[in-house]
Amino acid sequence: MIEQRRMLIAGNWKMNLSLDEAVELAASMMEYSSATAKLDIALFPPAVYIERISSLLEHSPIIVGAQNIHPEEAGAFTGEISSKMVLTSGGQMVILGHSERRHIFAETDEFICAKVKRAILSELTPVLCIGETIDQRDAGETNRVLKRQLEGSLDGITIEFPGELVLAYEPVWAIGTGRVATPEQAQEAHAFIREWMDGRFGRAGRDCRILYGGSVKPDNAAGILTQADIDGALVGGASLKSLSFGGIIIEALKILER
Ligand code: PGA
Repeated sequence: MIEQRRMLIAGNWKMNLSLDEAVELAASMMEYSSATAKLDIALFPPAVYIERISSLLEHSPIIVGAQNIHPEEAGAFTGEISSKMVLTSGGQMVILGHSERRHIFAETDEFICAKVKRAILSELTPVLCIGETIDQRDAGETNRVLKRQLEGSLDGITIEFPGELVLAYEPVWAIGTGRVATPEQAQEAHAFIREWMDGRFGRAGRDCRILYGGSVKPDNAAGILTQADIDGALVGGASLKSLSFGGIIIEALKILER
């Protein structure tokens, strides 16, 4: 079982890198394997690379995951991938409800919820992303939006252990924009999410890991990761270079070793 709220540094590669580049990046991340004595590291390559990357990392404690799955087990869903495909390719986690899926591909909370259910049923750990747009924040609606996304994306879901579900707070306005939330803004949202999780799932919910995502870089990681309710980072752009992703891991280690 995962130790309570173990720090997790996750890299979402999105739709980037050729196969050779992906293999080279994953291989260079092995240099940071020893950091897993203190924290978890996960890489989320494009689906077609999962098998190759997880084979490469077979003897490394670095976790590999997918960026999406379809809620159904199998069937006529051209272009989609199932939880079983991810699992049998060596994936252990899956990002669900990412803001790019919500906004570019119009995924609803209901659809995301079906995927979360499938992932948990398949023993694939979901990293459920939620977050408000800048207009919603400016209108003072942040908590209302987070609550709506949590209620909708976790409707009817039960968890027994905190390790069954990871959440990621990703303010839409901070993703890929270079505009990171202040540590105080992030902490405030995380505290709200944790309280909601406690009310909804009790102890198992309260101890779920909640990652922050949105323009995390080595130079702003410490401010974010030292916040009481932040258990790690979901990193996009900075995860595409071993130096910057590794830099975030080093910042996380410094905090844990304090
Ligand atoms: P970013 O992406 O670090 O490039 O802002 C974060 C994410 O989308 O998970």
